[in-house]
Amino acid sequence: MRFITLLLALALGTMSLSAQENIITPAPVRVQGGICVDDYCAPAEPFDFRQTLNLNISGAESADAERLEAAVSAAGLNFKRVKRHAKSGFLSINIFSECMEQEDGYVILTYPYGVDITAKSAAGAFYALQSVRQMVEAGDWQTGVILDYPRFGYRGVLIDVSRHFRSMDFLKRQIDMMARLKMNRLHLHLTDAAGWRMEIDSYPRLTSYAAWRTPATWKEWWQGGRQHVDEGTEGAYGGYYTKEELRDLVAYAADRYITIIPEIEMPGHSDEVLATYPELKCTHSPEFQGELCIGKEATFEMMQAILDEVIEVFPSEYIHIGGDEASKDNWKLCEDCQRRMREEGLESVEELQSYMIERMERYLNERGRQIIGWDEILQGGLAPNATVMSWRGEEGGIAAAEAGHDAIMSPHAYCYIDAPQDAPYSQPESIGGYLPLEKVYSYDPAPETMDKKVARHITGVQANLWAEYIVEDSHYEHMLWPRAIAVAEIGWSARQNMNFEDFRPRAVKIVDRMIEEGYTPFDLKNEIGNRPESKSDIEHLARGKKVTYIYPSFYYYPKYGAEGDITLTDGKRGTWTYADNRWQGFLGRGGVDVIIDLDEIQTIHSISADFMQICGPGVFMPCLVEIAVSADGENYTKIADIEHEIVVDELPSFKSFGWKGETEARYIRYKAHRSRYSGFLFVDEIIVR
Ligand code: ACM
Ligand code: ZN
Repeated sequence: MRFITLLLALALGTMSLSAQENIITPAPVRVQGGICVDDYCAPAEPFDFRQTLNLNISGAESADAERLEAAVSAAGLNFKRVKRHAKSGFLSINIFSECMEQEDGYVILTYPYGVDITAKSAAGAFYALQSVRQMVEAGDWQTGVILDYPRFGYRGVLIDVSRHFRSMDFLKRQIDMMARLKMNRLHLHLTDAAGWRMEIDSYPRLTSYAAWRTPATWKEWWQGGRQHVDEGTEGAYGGYYTKEELRDLVAYAADRYITIIPEIEMPGHSDEVLATYPELKCTHSPEFQGELCIGKEATFEMMQAILDEVIEVFPSEYIHIGGDEASKDNWKLCEDCQRRMREEGLESVEELQSYMIERMERYLNERGRQIIGWDEILQGGLAPNATVMSWRGEEGGIAAAEAGHDAIMSPHAYCYIDAPQDAPYSQPESIGGYLPLEKVYSYDPAPETMDKKVARHITGVQANLWAEYIVEDSHYEHMLWPRAIAVAEIGWSARQNMNFEDFRPRAVKIVDRMIEEGYTPFDLKNEIGNRPESKSDIEHLARGKKVTYIYPSFYYYPKYGAEGDITLTDGKRGTWTYADNRWQGFLGRGGVDVIIDLDEIQTIHSISADFMQICGPGVFMPCLVEIAVSADGENYTKIADIEHEIVVDELPSFKSFGWKGETEARYIRYKAHRSRYSGFLFVDEIIVR
């Protein structure tokens, strides 16, 4: 025990901090250069990590000792295994559960003549070795103390292998990288409309049929009838994992202290299941159905049989059973679903969904497992022991935590890394607005202001990478890294140690190293950054002036009202995304039609406004902009008629529609017409000079 007290005293010393603080990612809790006693510190000096170290490991089960030895090798250290702590040139790893309170924590004590790692758990020792690896890679390992432990127990990434199948090798490469960043959960999205990916003996058609399609890209498949084909059909695209492969992957991840959480979607996102076993559709048998029929017992027999096989392969305590985005409409029309509701006294289709989730939870609980579900599982009442994964925002996670359930945060605004991470014109086609590294990094799953009782149930954070638009592995890695590094740091590092200015150069170094190693991350050092116009407010004649909207056909859509009536003259320009509360969205048939009152007659030389186009979510340029001016607000003179031919394209674009000249006026009427493409018009500012 004295030894431990000494360690903590060392760690809490206040002398010079080491440069190694800027080497280790996620940022460690405490780094202390030099060996200190009270307020005396022997100076930090380089540790000779190129020597052959005498490695002894104590307190570890043999499987863990092997894993740790592999991690020492992976850290680039030369060593020979010895039975006892050597006198010098030692690397001694001691697993000792009493050494600190914090789960999976560790202390690295580097003397000039050897290194002692003390860890609370084998995982903690593995994390210590990841810190060591980063010091070795940086060529900078100094004497001193590192005290470290994770902020959250769940630090995850979701990989979507349904929309586009990925190889085992690909998954292992991502696991390697996650492990280096001390992440510990890989959520595998194994099933969805576009393809079922896990071998299931009791329902073989799930992999001989539901795993295959002819269009190779999700987009062509989605737009082209959404059919599946038999395995072996000419041109069949897809694939699945055998149980043997999945067991191998589970073991590979476990060797790196990562748990794989399989997701089997139900009742929604199950189109491929129903395309394969149409007898499980609702009674009125719609052509396409994405939600399992909850009225039929056969649905439960099937899902239970599948889960039996899932838990045989995946030892994870937690099994994800989906629960998101079920349309529920078919259940209203189905005799079997309606009968189930009557018999069970269920008053809504939301309760019907909860009936299914609760039954599946009971089934898994009886087998020693727990469920995780997307936040929609709250809608009809939460299953008694469920953990909620909050994606539509944080509200679901907070509501679950308030009710005493655990919650994992992955709100789409910060954690959906399928959105572009740089200027959208420079990035491949993707979903969503703009989610740069800095925004991901700014996310705090349990801020200071959160009630402590609620915060206690926030068990962690996860980056979700859906793959609708991501065909190639290289593209997948480009989307995943470096944003998942930010999520790793959010999950691990103490908030007071997090600072984007400090993080970014570390992330650049990791990215550069990944590129050297053959990964294809987004090249952070060449980041373009946010839309230049948005970086500072602008002055112009209309700034702060009153805008009158021609209601109702030309009013802005409430969800995209931004700052309300002041938005178009507030001097704030939009970023790359319309979801930034700076762009105002118009969905009315007429488009945009506003009058700006400059308060007095002014000499005007230009009037312009920018629009954006992102065809995927239905945002288009106007087809015609008319600008008119007036001295009295009654009689207007048209000064511009700007026609625009819309070209439907994949990448977002931005365009200014304006007039230049000279005129005198007090009132300006700016009218932008929607084209034959239905959808939104988005405008950020009407600039008058
Ligand atoms: C989800 O993004 N539907 C969980
Ligand atoms: Zn039904």
